[in-house]
Amino acid sequence: MQTHEIARRFTEHFVGAGHTRVASASLILDDPTLLFVNAGMVQFKPYFLGDAPPPYPRATSIQKCVRTGDIDEVGKTTRHNTFFQMAGNFSFGDYFKAGAIEHAWNLVTGSQAAGGYGFDPERIWVTVYETDDEAIDLWKKIAGLPDERIQRRDGLDNYWDMGVPGPGGPCSEIYYDRGPEHGKEGGPVADEDRYLEIWNLVFMQDIRGEESPKYGHLPIGSLPKKNIDTGLGIERVAYLLQGVDNVYETDLVRPVIGRAEEFSGRRYGANHEDDVRFRVIADHARSGVMIIGDGVTPSNEGRGYVLRRLLRRIVRSSRLLGVQEPVLESFAEVVRDAMAPSYPELESGFERIAAVVQAEEEAFLQTLTAGSRIFDTAVAETRKTGSTTLAGDQAFQLHDTFGFPIDLTLEMAAEQGLQVDQDRFRTLMEEQRSRAKADAKARKVGHGDGSIYRAVLDTHGTTEFLGYSELAAEATVVGLLVDGVAVPAAREGDHVEVVLDRTPFYAEAGGQQADTGELRGASFTVRVDDVQSPVAGLRVHRGVVTNGDVPLDAAVVAEVDTARRMSVSRAHTATHLVHAGVRGALGPSAAQAGSLNAPGRLRFDFTSPSGAVAPAALAEIEDEVNSVLQENREVQAYETSMAEARKLGAMMLFGEKYGDLVRVVDMGDYSRELCGGTHVGRTGELGMVKVLSEGSIGSGVRRVEALVGLDAFRFLSKEHVLVSSIADQLKARPEDLPERINSLVERLRTAERDLEKVRADAVLSSAGSLADGAEDVGGVALVAVEVPGGVAGNDLRALASDVRARLGARPGVVALFSTDAGKVAFVVATTQAARDRGIAAGKLVPAFGPSVGGRGGGKPDLAQGGGTEPAGIPAALDALRAALRA
Ligand code: ALA
Repeated sequence: MQTHEIARRFTEHFVGAGHTRVASASLILDDPTLLFVNAGMVQFKPYFLGDAPPPYPRATSIQKCVRTGDIDEVGKTTRHNTFFQMAGNFSFGDYFKAGAIEHAWNLVTGSQAAGGYGFDPERIWVTVYETDDEAIDLWKKIAGLPDERIQRRDGLDNYWDMGVPGPGGPCSEIYYDRGPEHGKEGGPVADEDRYLEIWNLVFMQDIRGEESPKYGHLPIGSLPKKNIDTGLGIERVAYLLQGVDNVYETDLVRPVIGRAEEFSGRRYGANHEDDVRFRVIADHARSGVMIIGDGVTPSNEGRGYVLRRLLRRIVRSSRLLGVQEPVLESFAEVVRDAMAPSYPELESGFERIAAVVQAEEEAFLQTLTAGSRIFDTAVAETRKTGSTTLAGDQAFQLHDTFGFPIDLTLEMAAEQGLQVDQDRFRTLMEEQRSRAKADAKARKVGHGDGSIYRAVLDTHGTTEFLGYSELAAEATVVGLLVDGVAVPAAREGDHVEVVLDRTPFYAEAGGQQADTGELRGASFTVRVDDVQSPVAGLRVHRGVVTNGDVPLDAAVVAEVDTARRMSVSRAHTATHLVHAGVRGALGPSAAQAGSLNAPGRLRFDFTSPSGAVAPAALAEIEDEVNSVLQENREVQAYETSMAEARKLGAMMLFGEKYGDLVRVVDMGDYSRELCGGTHVGRTGELGMVKVLSEGSIGSGVRRVEALVGLDAFRFLSKEHVLVSSIADQLKARPEDLPERINSLVERLRTAERDLEKVRADAVLSSAGSLADGAEDVGGVALVAVEVPGGVAGNDLRALASDVRARLGARPGVVALFSTDAGKVAFVVATTQAARDRGIAAGKLVPAFGPSVGGRGGGKPDLAQGGGTEPAGIPAALDALRAALRA
């Protein structure tokens, strides 16, 4: 049974049982606790917690999931995928254990002819949470399972939560016995390879605190209702129903292995080492494409880093299979063809996906080259110290600076007969990870942990946002935090986080910077420097109590800094216009990849498969945007259904989570986007948009920066003054300046060349006087001097030869030094008569070279070299004299 069919049957089964079909959420949900969506329930979390009323009592979805915790297991076991599809059915306070068990049992064991999966009921085993007698009874009653195929397990296996405070509950897992040839008897508790878990039914009823019931801690409360959350691994079912050996050989994954076989000329199944590489490629290619499909681009942190790592592991594994040419785009095509029937966005967005992987592959190949050089140096240094272990610091540097995966370093070191200090490497990695985590937490979640905000949310509900229409409002303080701890009052000077029941302040989101302003109470003032939304629905004002004490429940007037807000709003509206302009000029493959809307300026990042935007095209976009300003179009914001917004052709961002009700911002037909930000009323308010630059920020992503309004005007005005003053100085008209400057530069170059020649001539003409000044050192005529004027090596040599010729038949040595920019150059020449006495130029160098911090050498008649210590020249001259006397 094909994978798409397995998914289809799941949906059909549950829709038939009254469930609302819900599309997969993006892999990137705005949840600060998660890097990627890793379970079907994530998008329903607010319904379980009671934060939002569920729009339906039952739902079913096929959710895209990424879990990279076991990335090192990929390809080595039969069942670890970094990307997989979790099919789930959900009940929000509707049916509970009995319903979940019955629905699952019917689908798993129902005949294939009747739309089920047709698993042999005799080979099904289940596990339940150790004290869950109710579940045991239900399995017996509903499925007729005998006692021996129901096993109790403790929280570690049979309690499920998200790994962070939030919803959770005991669970019951369904396993399929693959048969005695795959492992020992005894059910899932004995062997999880032979008994393969296919479905997890979670009886979602608890609120998990800081410590998980998985490890024996008590939940901190109960959810408002009893719910069901289940997850069936589509890939695992496919692997069983398709009779293949592992999840990498199923119909949607195996084709990539086929492509890798073509590239490498090696066969899958021939040896274990290569097989693991084939499987890594197949698994990672799919995850990579799906992640890019949801808008992530490779970078050095967070999701971008995970993606980078996946893509680089593919390239590296391909190398190890003997493939030298670029592979990623080709693999991506195979993934697209396999996955697009379920995820059509892969088809429509493929140009962008291809551009991202191409750029990353190119960058990595360069990295490999650069890193290999550093690696060689590190190896040489290690050898020099007589050690056989490459320092952990060096392995870390290779990883950190050059993106060298540690396994690559290990392998290359092994090829050189070296080991790597992995303990030290791991310590450094750990340090870096905790730094990154602390950073991310401080940035995103603020100082308090999620549970404190959650508690405020539970008690007072979401913060009502008034800021689309109001810039000042009366409100009540419902939450106060100092140093991340909830407090009943804050004092003057405290850095506080304040939650209000309602607020006109915009919290940073969608690239738009937060508002600043003031909260004023009867006897206190809080200066607001930042506003964040650490948990959905809550707006947290951060700042300092500038006078008085702030008690909880205090009434405040919350007032936004209007000028700043207006300026940011202008930038945001301008960003939409630039987006529309870029899209119009470059086509739909130019998708927004990020933005910043700050007072008076904006940054807009977008994917550009075709590389840089030509200056002329950029000028046209700018022109067009400014003409839209002049048309003074009305900027309208309204809420509508997602379906309607799609129909209107509103632009949406990859990877954004949108509800069913969305907010559209449009400026006539020129620009229409889903957006939660604030904007001006009419485009004319922007005054002017000036694009400053366009450039690459890596991996197929370009960045446009622009100024808006008065900031744009001031910039242009300053440039105008600058140009006028240059024109004055050069006595040229502004439009003639480029040519005038060109010719000036040209003349300057010619003059410099002439000057150099004059200088060289002057030096050369000094040969006569230098020869005349020869001193006698032990019967040898020695000319040893520092020649002034920074004479270059060639000229110095010519001069030395000239002086030597003038010494004639005498035994003579000429040693000339010259300094330039902190460097010393020297030349030594000997006459024939000197050489007859056994004086060789090349042999003299070691006698004086060290005095100038340098080395050099040459033949008996002529030697030259350089050093780094001009101050040592007198000492060098003395050393030379001493050498001749000896
Ligand atoms: N949420 C449960 C899981 O991920 C079903 O296993």
